[in-house]
Amino acid sequence: MKKLLLAISLFALTASAATADPIADRQALMKANGKAAGQLAAIAKGEAPFDAAVVLAALTTINDDAQKLDVAALFPAGSDKGDTTASPKIWEDMAGFQAKADKFKTDAAAALAAPPADVDGVKATLGVLGQNCGGCHEMFRVKKG
Ligand code: HEC
Repeated sequence: MKKLLLAISLFALTASAATADPIADRQALMKANGKAAGQLAAIAKGEAPFDAAVVLAALTTINDDAQKLDVAALFPAGSDKGDTTASPKIWEDMAGFQAKADKFKTDAAAALAAPPADVDGVKATLGVLGQNCGGCHEMFRVKKG
């Protein structure tokens, strides 16, 4: 019984350490972005039917993630080291990175406030949001070699 309790408390310790891991947190957030953007892309490409509920859910996820993109908390000094594709440029140009994050917050909120009503609308919305994803990744993410 004691051993079991110890195992449980050790597990709890690891679990809370994991949520205090900014690299894991920001990657989880970005993965959710990727999944939601993928749902929109499937509709834009005609691989999935237009479904207002799916579109709204995807835009809600992207907006939640954008608003949660707290640069100071998720990209603290020193978190360029480890299993990450975050570029050292983030810490060299924090203001530039913050500006990309701010633009993403604005565009994601606007997309959710006026969700597209058809496939062409999804294409347009995805175009605007996609520029945020791609623009930030291009400057502030390194490719794993
Ligand atoms: C403000 C900058 C910024 C914006 C905007 C942004 N990203 Fe990212 N993204 C990053 C950075 C930095 C990383 C690398 C994180 C790491 O590895 O620590 C990343 C990583 C990712 C990853 C890989 C996550 C993993 O498992 O390692 C995916 C997928 C992703 N982003 C999707 C998106 C999508 C989709 C959007 C737009 C809807 C988006 N991102 C918008 C900066 C951004």
